[in-house]
Amino acid sequence: MSEQLSSRQLQEAAKEFGTPLYVYHAEKIKEQYGKLTSAFNGSKVVFFYACKALTNINVLKYVHSLGANIDCSSINEVKLALHAGFPPQRILYTSNGIGFEEIAEAKELGVNINIDSLSNLEKFGKAYRHTYPVGIRLRPNILAGGNLKISTGHDKSKFGIPVEQLDRILAIVKEYHIAITDLHIHTGSDIKDADVFVKGIDVLFDIIPHFPELKSVDLGGGFKVPYRQGDEEIDINVLAQKVKEAFDNHPQAKNLEIWFEPGKFLVSACGYLITQVNVIKETKATTFASVNSGFNHLIRPMFYDAYHRIQNISNPDGAEKTYSIVGNICETDTFAWDRTMNEIREGDYLVFYNAGAYGFEMSSNFNSRFKPAEVLIKEGKAHLIRKRDVMDDLLRNVVEI
Ligand SMILES: Cc1ncc(COP(=O)(O)O)c(C=O)c1O
Repeated sequence: MSEQLSSRQLQEAAKEFGTPLYVYHAEKIKEQYGKLTSAFNGSKVVFFYACKALTNINVLKYVHSLGANIDCSSINEVKLALHAGFPPQRILYTSNGIGFEEIAEAKELGVNINIDSLSNLEKFGKAYRHTYPVGIRLRPNILAGGNLKISTGHDKSKFGIPVEQLDRILAIVKEYHIAITDLHIHTGSDIKDADVFVKGIDVLFDIIPHFPELKSVDLGGGFKVPYRQGDEEIDINVLAQKVKEAFDNHPQAKNLEIWFEPGKFLVSACGYLITQVNVIKETKATTFASVNSGFNHLIRPMFYDAYHRIQNISNPDGAEKTYSIVGNICETDTFAWDRTMNEIREGDYLVFYNAGAYGFEMSSNFNSRFKPAEVLIKEGKAHLIRKRDVMDDLLRNVVEI
């Protein structure tokens, strides 16, 4: 049985902590992590949780307790990971477009680093030569992912050093004797087809022989999770089998560790955003249900045209009607247009599913509204893990002159 919080648990949390509210379910994270470890059982695979999806320190500690490693995309995420108890060797900093001083800081903290530009690679070589093993983030020129905004490996993407610049990489590595121990690619997010990873592996296999000190190959994250009813999750068992086959049959790759960086796969489905309906507005075009939230709390529908399942947990037996679900901020913030839902009344709780990944994490104080509180439900008990903002938070760091 798949782990899921019941409407009753969500209503209780909403009543206790107020709305809008992010609720996370620890056991769902555990279930998702378990799917990965059991599918890849027996392979030399290491999972680094891509914590950009959700960085609440309690979530990081929980992921750590499951035995996962962690992937960071800023130096502050690295510091959060250390704070959560991850030892440096289990932290990976996959940088993009950062200044060299951040790389130097990450090196001082002793974490694994993937470098994504020739310029930083050269600076790294000059500063540290062979003394600190490092990885390279490559751009494999593969178009994959749910839509262009979440595709990161194609030939116009800013991420990684384009594979066609291999000669320049090799020249720098040779000149400074840099110990390259990891090659990284990440093609995008919402990837359902395991063959995308196989394509990436093929690109890397041509490059592996150039790096005799290699210890790992990092295939990034992007495993698809279902957002709509009827959507399918990537088949992790098929992925595991294909990856294993490819590596086992390659003389130089078979002894390498295989790294993955799942974000959504671990924390998307564990998260729920509970909102409350402020206003029902009937118009010729549609009936609006305006909730006490907006893209200041969940931006994915507006930013990526992402679909989130929404349910009226206050009236599960209500007659079905069509509504457009919008927020209360002074911008167009349509969560869903013409969605069939159980009848909505003002005051009802509407729950947004799959809100764990890139939900709270991308939230803001736009319109000077407060960020929601966060709650973690673990072993049936609800813990407040972030307080809702208060007025002082909006004034913190403001210098009144
Ligand atoms: C380098 C890297 N690794 C991993 C991820 C995680 O992707 P997902 O949450 O789709 O698994 C991302 C997402 O942006 C990324 O940029």
